[in-house]
Formats: sequence, structure tokens, C-alpha cells
Amino acid sequence: MRINGRDADGTPLPGQCLRTFLRQEGATDVKKGCDAGDCGACSVLVDGTATHACLVPAVRAVGREITTLAGLGTPEHLHPVQRCFRDAAGFQCGFCTAGMIVTAAGEELATSTDLPRAMKGNLCRCTGYRSIRDALAGTTNVERPEAG
Ligand code: FES
Ligand code: FES
Repeated sequence: MRINGRDADGTPLPGQCLRTFLRQEGATDVKKGCDAGDCGACSVLVDGTATHACLVPAVRAVGREITTLAGLGTPEHLHPVQRCFRDAAGFQCGFCTAGMIVTAAGEELATSTDLPRAMKGNLCRCTGYRSIRDALAGTTNVERPEAG
């Protein structure tokens, strides 16, 4: 698989989830939260679609293009969704932030008119939803480039 535009170094093991494999590959921006598909901290884009990486067997991602938060933009050239979160200070401890931004940047959400529904798989344990909502509101006004 490709991770943020580079070929993975290793090979997924049978039974290994995509989240574990990505972190082994150095993508520590993919967080380990509930490990049960509930919190969205591990969200990544798989071929442009927001996915909970803890629910996907890593072997099923072979041949796919994976994008994590780090693959969306750089500090000099932030992805528009990253910019919206920065401008709205859409975070507290930041643990959920990577997953929130990745999901919001996902292709499905780009065309969604029901933002709260589209984000229902991403939880914030700090419960700072007001600033997250403000950040997401900003994303409806930005042009979305292709992820990756
Ligand atoms: Fe994957 Fe919570 S760690 S959804
Ligand atoms: Fe702390 Fe969301 S900002 S978990």
C-alpha cells in the first residue's frame, strides 16, 4: 500500500489492523482510541474515503492509497480543513483532532450537506464540540483539493 504518497516499508501481518500497521510504519498521527470503531481517533482516508483504521484488516488495504493527517498538508501549505480547525481553534487536548480533520477532508463529506451526521463517527473526549462545529462550519466555504 501507499501511505501519504510513499510505498509502505513493511508487509501487514495476518490479523493485524490497519491502525497498528500504519503506526508501525511511522504514521503516529493515526491515534489508538477505542479500538472498536466508536471514536474515530484512528480515521484515515482509504482511496479518499474516510475509514476507521482499527476496523480494517491491514491486508485488505494492500494496493490502496492511505492518507493520514500528515498527508493532507504541510505546515506551510495546510489543507483547507486543517486551516479551518486552526482558525477556529477546533481542539483542546488534540487527541481527536487528526481523526476529525481527516474525516472532514474525506471525499464523502466534501459533498455532504449534513455535516453533523457525517461526523457522527468521530468523538471528542474533551467534549469541545462548539469549536469543532465552528471549524466544520468554515469548511463548507472552502474549495477542497484532492487528498494526498
Ligand atoms: Fe478506531 Fe476508535 S480507535 S474508532
Ligand atoms: Fe481532546 Fe477532542 S480535543 S479529545
